[in-house]
Amino acid sequence: MSENVIFCYSGTGNCLDMARNIARYLGDTDIIMMRSAPAKTDVRDAKRVGFVFPCFGGGAPADVLTYARTIQVSPEAYTFGVSQSASYPGVGLADLDAIIPLKYWRAVTHQCSCIWLFPHNLMVPPLSAEKAQERSEGLAHVIGTELMAGILTGKKPPRNPLNAAENKAWPMIARKKAAQFKVSDACIGCAQCVRLCPRGNIRLENGRAVIGTDCIQCLGCLQFCPQSAISIGSITDKREHYHNPNVKAADLMEKIIHID
Ligand SMILES: Cc1cc2nc3c(=O)[nH]c(=O)nc-3n(C[C@H](O)[C@H](O)[C@H](O)COP(=O)(O)O)c2cc1C
Repeated sequence: MSENVIFCYSGTGNCLDMARNIARYLGDTDIIMMRSAPAKTDVRDAKRVGFVFPCFGGGAPADVLTYARTIQVSPEAYTFGVSQSASYPGVGLADLDAIIPLKYWRAVTHQCSCIWLFPHNLMVPPLSAEKAQERSEGLAHVIGTELMAGILTGKKPPRNPLNAAENKAWPMIARKKAAQFKVSDACIGCAQCVRLCPRGNIRLENGRAVIGTDCIQCLGCLQFCPQSAISIGSITDKREHYHNPNVKAADLMEKIIHID
């Protein structure tokens, strides 16, 4: 077992990039992907155990909390959580803290991956993709340094009632959006989206992707599609697609990524 473990959920790579950058500071880290059931849940031997995940609809992706309930952590471990959002952190860190108490937490922002809602550069502060990435790498440095110093945040993560209400309504909104997926004639049946979908919600039919309704809205299928063949509503074809510049679709399919 590595000295450090980071459980990571990432739809379009921002959180995986953050997790890898933090791990470079910590050294000897297993990044255990939690897009689907994590390959390892008993991490009682790890000295530091962290979670890096995005904010979707005012809170953590539901699967992050489901999988967190299966994870065993030593009571002595230094636990930490990093939530990444476009503007506000939502209640994800507070929900995770109720399952696994966090000794250190941070909410940071990066480019917006919710293409049907906003263009990707609509983030707080408003930044180009290049500047946002530079800033994210700087923040990973700060977080890595604070984790190495064993800083304790000393207060509970925020639980804004408006974000809590949004997060409660989110499953219904996500279901409605999922019904709007369309795959165009540009689809070449490469099946990358089939392999990438964390819910196993995409299949090939007659050489073309077909998207079902069991969708968590990570939007990896759409944002990474090499043919830009996937849309969700009419606006998404008009907007520039975005995924983290350092992360490939194949990286997100890994189960465990070790960083020395
Ligand atoms: C479906 C969806 C919902 C989102 N909801 C929020 C939100 O409620 N608040 C927010 O500030 N950002 C929201 N975002 C933006 C993401 O949290 C942000 O882009 C994050 O960096 C994505 O991380 P990832 O690339 O690792 O998936 C949302 C993104 C998606 C795809």
